[in-house]
Amino acid sequence: MSFFSTRRGFLKASGMTGAATMVGSLGAVIPTRKYAHVGNLACAPLETVKVGVIGLGMRGPGAVSRLSAIPGVRVTALSDLYKARVDARNEWLAKNGFSTAKAYYGTEDEWKKLVEDPEVNLVYIASPWQLHVPMVLHALDCGKHVACEVPMVFTVEECWQIINKAEEKRVHCMLLENCCYGENELLALNLIRNNMLGTLVHGEGAYIHDLRGWNFRENSYEGFWRLKWNAQHTGNPYATHGLGPICQYMGIGRGDQMRVLTAMNSGEFGFSEYVKAHQAEIDALSAKSSGAKYGMTDKEALRGPWAQGDMSTAIIKTEMGRTIMVQHDTTSPRPYTRLNLISGTKGILKDYPLQIALDQKYDAPHLGWATPAQMNEIMAKYRHPLWRESGEIAKKMGGHGGMDFLMDLRLCYCLQNGLPLDINVYESCQWSVIAGLTEESSKKDGMPVIVPDFTRGAWKELSPLGIETVKFNLDADKAKTDKQMSV
Ligand SMILES: NC(=O)c1ccc[n+]([C@@H]2O[C@H](COP(=O)([O-])OP(=O)(O)OC[C@H]3O[C@@H](n4cnc5c(N)ncnc54)[C@H](O)[C@@H]3O)[C@@H](O)[C@H]2O)c1
Repeated sequence: MSFFSTRRGFLKASGMTGAATMVGSLGAVIPTRKYAHVGNLACAPLETVKVGVIGLGMRGPGAVSRLSAIPGVRVTALSDLYKARVDARNEWLAKNGFSTAKAYYGTEDEWKKLVEDPEVNLVYIASPWQLHVPMVLHALDCGKHVACEVPMVFTVEECWQIINKAEEKRVHCMLLENCCYGENELLALNLIRNNMLGTLVHGEGAYIHDLRGWNFRENSYEGFWRLKWNAQHTGNPYATHGLGPICQYMGIGRGDQMRVLTAMNSGEFGFSEYVKAHQAEIDALSAKSSGAKYGMTDKEALRGPWAQGDMSTAIIKTEMGRTIMVQHDTTSPRPYTRLNLISGTKGILKDYPLQIALDQKYDAPHLGWATPAQMNEIMAKYRHPLWRESGEIAKKMGGHGGMDFLMDLRLCYCLQNGLPLDINVYESCQWSVIAGLTEESSKKDGMPVIVPDFTRGAWKELSPLGIETVKFNLDADKAKTDKQMSV
């Protein structure tokens, strides 16, 4: 083990020895654990998963329809600021033969009643980022299982609050990282678990998605929450789509652990030029926008400046000596990519488009990408069983090509069967907190920051996620699923 691969070695080299407080909030202080870790938490099986969904904007409604289609799952409560959004989902439930859900709307705090409702045993959060932490904490405090949209949490301090509460209450707290269930991501996981890529060395993930238009549009993000985030923060606020799958491949928090991170952001150019090019429309939007929440007025958010540098690049080094690069850019006209690159001592898989090269099979040292025929062979052999068995229905149900449905399916299956979830509270925090850590490092021009070990050492005993599937009789329920799709 090298000098730098120990936490003490890193502190010494960076002049931080003997002064954990010098690292500030970022990782040096690990609060003492009061309760046993929940890395493999198994809870009493839920006969019926009774879901309360909070946030029915662009994302939440899809969750209501996906969850309703799963055997043994009922959406029992709905919450949004706006009555019309709750009513629309209840109309949808009624039209499709499901019981309508209790409705909580109208004030900023009404969601608390949904959380406290005894007819809810899973709180499913699809609200703006700024509300995730209080919602997660209140749900945990009420002893409810929680599933929260990405990212769940932003700062190290908030992570400890969530982890301490989840350990105390012994309930699940899962980040809804749907990209972990993508067909190519699960193909990669299956290849890796079958040792086809060898010892993993390096991974790359990203969220590169042009969201300029969505940010400067009426009736898009409620209260311009995303634009306001961009005005107030830099770093990589949305790392988990690219990072989550890489962490599962590598067993981060389960056999390996992130150790140190360095990050830089480019300057902000994208929004400024976009606004200049669309000045008349944005002036008109600003003239009719009078809101003030999420720390600033709508007009201020539309006017800028925006702290978020367009391209964020972070490099993370793990305890086992692996490296991970994570990028984020939602303000440039670039085609969508999550990169999804994983390389090891025997091969590589990269996405967008999907390419695979396998050393042992296809002629090292002149290694080339697998040909279309070879790709078909690999995919036929290593398609993940979850996709093999439930992929057809998942594609019909939709949600990013089916991965959203498979995520909900696995979540509910595990809850019904008293199994540990695929993504535990430590992973949920670890992947999400890249937001705060990249912001800290980027503001100091790439100064390394220590990534806290949220498992408090349990990563050494936890096993990497295996190849898991579900045993629902989805075919029997196919008629119900098809019926919904026709709506
Ligand atoms: N995993 C994915 O692929 C994916 C895709 C899109 C969005 N998301 C995540 O989903 C979340 C929501 O994103 P969105 O695009 O739907 O945003 P949105 O602004 O369209 O929806 C948010 C909803 O929350 C409601 N809301 C706000 N304050 C509330 C409160 N106090 N009580 C109850 N409801 C409240 C709003 O009225 C709105 O309907 C975000 O965390 C986002 O990152 C994830």
